[in-house]
Amino acid sequence: MRIDFTADLWWKNAVFYCLDVETFMDGDGDGCGDFNGLTQQVDYLANLGITCIWLMPFYPTPNRDDGYDITDYFAVDPRLGTLGDFVEFMRTASDRGLRVIIDLVVNHTSDEHPWFQAARSSPNSIYRDYYVWREQKPAEAPDSVAFPGEETSIWQHDRRARAYYLHHFYRYQPDLNIANGRVRDEIARVMGFWLHQGVSGFRVDAVPALLQVENRSEAPEFDPQAYLRELRSFMGRRAAEAMWLGEANVDPDDERQYLGGDEGDALNMLFNFVVMQAIYLSLARRSAEPLEDALRRLPKIPKDTQWANFLRNHDELTLDKLTVSQREEVFAAFGPEPQMQLYSHGLRRRLAPMLEGDQKRLRMLFSLIFSLPGTPVLLYGDEIGMGENLSLADRLAVRTPMQWTASAGGGFSSSPVSRFVRPPVDGRCGPEEVNVADQRRNPDSQLAFVSRLIRRRRETPEFGWGTWQLVESRAPSLFAHRCEWQGSTVIAVHNLGPNRATLTLDAQQLGDCEAVDDLLGERKLQPRSDGSLRITLGGYGYRWLRVRRIGQRPRF
Ligand code: GLC
Repeated sequence: MRIDFTADLWWKNAVFYCLDVETFMDGDGDGCGDFNGLTQQVDYLANLGITCIWLMPFYPTPNRDDGYDITDYFAVDPRLGTLGDFVEFMRTASDRGLRVIIDLVVNHTSDEHPWFQAARSSPNSIYRDYYVWREQKPAEAPDSVAFPGEETSIWQHDRRARAYYLHHFYRYQPDLNIANGRVRDEIARVMGFWLHQGVSGFRVDAVPALLQVENRSEAPEFDPQAYLRELRSFMGRRAAEAMWLGEANVDPDDERQYLGGDEGDALNMLFNFVVMQAIYLSLARRSAEPLEDALRRLPKIPKDTQWANFLRNHDELTLDKLTVSQREEVFAAFGPEPQMQLYSHGLRRRLAPMLEGDQKRLRMLFSLIFSLPGTPVLLYGDEIGMGENLSLADRLAVRTPMQWTASAGGGFSSSPVSRFVRPPVDGRCGPEEVNVADQRRNPDSQLAFVSRLIRRRRETPEFGWGTWQLVESRAPSLFAHRCEWQGSTVIAVHNLGPNRATLTLDAQQLGDCEAVDDLLGERKLQPRSDGSLRITLGGYGYRWLRVRRIGQRPRF
């Protein structure tokens, strides 16, 4: 077989794993996770099979938004270690074949950042124009704030500056003014710095807010899309393999522009928010239709760009792209209590407790997210079915310490639990019930399952690289799709309901098929004499099937 020299984009067939250094593993026993602790656990991640770690912000911060409020872009939060510890971690990850991407949070800084302190102090400071100011409070759309209930406006009055500054997120996160060339230089410097430390790219925070220039009207000639392209080109010059994955929860019609339109020369990947939300509606309704509709609504994305598929991230499970009544259905199914809901559009729950620990549905969902066209992204702890702590404020409920052992503190730190940076999960899906140590010893555990699935996914590049199509089925709960790549076809079938359902693939759909390999069940299926294949799935069953063409060498 010839080597395909165009199939060398590592992130097309990667498995991403998001973690926060602060809550992953404490190496020095002070109750706060750190780079030394993380470095000790790199082998765990390598054995799990993931290929790229996404680190949430680890920079110096007053920590009012869990590190998304940065005071120094070129350093490590001293609670988490030193730059030297960071490099040791990078070396270890690279030694085990793992890549690392990091959060790039440049829509805003912390209000304690020296730039903002200088900016507010004097209208003559060169830093003044690093931010966006207005003497009068401008009119704003009612839905402009990112955190309804927490903030009521995107403009905050600053007494020192005697002016209003723009902040799309919390008031202590003033927005940077990317229409200012010096700010753009700073952003390039930040990216250049970390690329030089060996990172493979960035998860870009809040892209639509970053590129929103309506409020920066003093620079009408500034073109944010062109800027995105310039920055991409800069990144490519500094590190040829680097990629960036954007957080842009926008309508499907607006998604393509973030990927650079026809050229595909802006962001490499986008989180698939629309599909994520539809999955929960499908599950609540036990029907494939919402998911199929969402996939049909996706824009055709440019060549060499990619979707990042996920079930949960570190934020609220946002349902903002559903209608009010659809959202109510999802709330009723997965988070009926008011304390489980957040910002009136989301759920602050972890995957496993939402599904009441039901392994059937959990495994089907993992299989689904790993087979949808794109690249899967996991949130730390979901591989074992970690719980949530609803006694914590807003999104912190899903950012509790990783559960390594059955001890009260989950083996996260040797310090007393009372000194933990954040309390662990208490009760349901807490460390006693759900932890790495127990699951490693059990070949039937969720951890063992997810690990097998990750390996299978890496061996099934059709999902990451291929072109895809929905496969019609008569059973409303069955969702089926096919991916084709380099002459190879994989068909994935998922049952989103509790009852048995059957799908018949006809001879035309299977092509010149000799046999069908059941990639997760490790069985070979034989089409009937008319060339068709009948597949029956139990409630919440799932199958990945590779068509073995006549005369084709089997791939295992
Ligand atoms: C993104 C992050 C979120 C953060 C916000 C402001 O949405 O995912 O955690 O609070 O940006 O930086």
